[in-house]
Amino acid sequence: MKHSIAIILAAAFLGLTSQAALASDDGIDVEKLYSKNCKMCHGIDKKKTGPAFKDMSTDPAVLKSALTTDRVKMMKGVVKKLSEADVDALVAYIQENQK
Ligand code: HEC
Repeated sequence: MKHSIAIILAAAFLGLTSQAALASDDGIDVEKLYSKNCKMCHGIDKKKTGPAFKDMSTDPAVLKSALTTDRVKMMKGVVKKLSEADVDALVAYIQENQK
């Protein structure tokens, strides 16, 4: 009896970890990235502390520069946490929401 519980637990654990691995294979969850790091200052179409995505530049190079340099002083803290892949995903996400 004890044994089978251990096997069930082990199977459940393996199931969970393989699911987590799958999720990260899918790449970046850009909506989550946005909610956690940007939403407090940028609405999709509503101005907050910073401009709404819809009011930003539509030039990907300009958007990227805001996320890779210290051009926007207020974003310094968040910019240094972003990987290159995060930046690309966020630029695409902003552009997607400007349509
Ligand atoms: C603490 C508030 C704050 C956070 C958090 C923040 N931003 Fe900003 N952001 C600003 C402000 C303020 C500006 C406008 C600065 C200016 O007008 O020069 C700005 C400007 C920008 C610009 C430049 C827009 C343009 O047209 O040049 C981009 C792109 C941008 N933010 C994206 C993001 C993304 C993506 C995130 C999340 C990873 C984020 N920001 C997080 C406050 C913030």
